Amino acid sequence: MKTKQFTRQDFETAAAYIVAHTAHRPTIGLVLGSGFGEFADAIADADIIPYADIPHFPRSTVEGHKGRLVIGRMEGQTIMVMQGRVHFYEGFTMEEVTFPVRVMRAFGVDTLILTNAAGGLNPDFRAGDIMLIEDQINLLGLVGNNPLMGPNDPELGPRFPDMSTLYDRGLRELALSVAHEAGIALRRGVYVGLSGPAFETPAEVRMLRILGADATGMSTTNEALVARHGGMRVLGFSGITNEAIDQIDSPRVTSHEEVLETGKILVPRMITLLRGLLRRIHHP
Ligand code: HPA
Repeated sequence: MKTKQFTRQDFETAAAYIVAHTAHRPTIGLVLGSGFGEFADAIADADIIPYADIPHFPRSTVEGHKGRLVIGRMEGQTIMVMQGRVHFYEGFTMEEVTFPVRVMRAFGVDTLILTNAAGGLNPDFRAGDIMLIEDQINLLGLVGNNPLMGPNDPELGPRFPDMSTLYDRGLRELALSVAHEAGIALRRGVYVGLSGPAFETPAEVRMLRILGADATGMSTTNEALVARHGGMRVLGFSGITNEAIDQIDSPRVTSHEEVLETGKILVPRMITLLRGLLRRIHHP
C-alpha cells in the first residue's frame, strides 16, 4: 500500500502551530489511552489545542478519546499531553497514527510516556492491574505495516534503528520505584500490538501467549517505535481492562464498554503513578 509520505516540513509546520498557541515549552509528552483522558484535567495553566486545528494532525473517532493536546504544568514539570490518540483500525495509515509523535519530537519533547488499555494474556494478570511495558512485539510492523517503511529522512533517525532496548531502562527502574513507594503492585511484561478492531479469538489469545506476550492492545507499538527512531526516551504502561478469553464457548465476552468501565477503576492508580513519575523524572 503506497500512501502519502509526510516530510520533516509537515512535522515542523504542525509543531510551529503549537509553538504559536502556547507559551509552554514541554520536554515530556504523554499519550493517554482509552479511559485515561481524565489525567489531563488536573494540568495547571493549561493551553488546550484540538487536534482538528493543528495542520495535518489526525482526528480520533473513538469514544473515550477526546482528541486534543493539553499543554501545561504538573508536579513541577511542563508536559504535553495527548488526550486521545488515533488507531490503525480507524483507517489511518501508520504514518498518520505516528504523526503526533514526530510533531512532539519536532517541538522539543525528548521523553514520551505511553499509556493504553489492554487485554491481559498472562494468566496471572487480573482486570484492574497495571503493567509496565518492558518490551513489545509489533506484530503489525513485522508483517509489513511498519511506520518506518518508505524513504528515510536521516535528520529524523537512522534507516535501521536499533530496538534492543526500546523502553528506556532508567525510566522503567524509576517507574518500579515510584510504584513501590505508592504501594502499587506494578506488573511487568511484553505488550503485543495488533490492528483490531475485533478482539482476539481464543485461538489467537493462546497464540499470543506462545509468542511471549503478556498483554495485548491496538495501539502503542508504532508510537513507541517512531519515538525511539527519533531518539526519544520511551516509557509505557498498560491498564489491564479485561482478561483475554482463551477458550471458546465461554460465558464471558469482551466489550469496549467493559474496557472503559475497568479503565475508570484504573484511573486513580494510573494518575498516582504518572504524578509520581513526573515528580522524580530527571532530564537526560
Ligand atoms: N484485546 C485488544 N485490545 C484491547 C483489549 C483486548 O482484550 N482490551 C483493551 N484493549
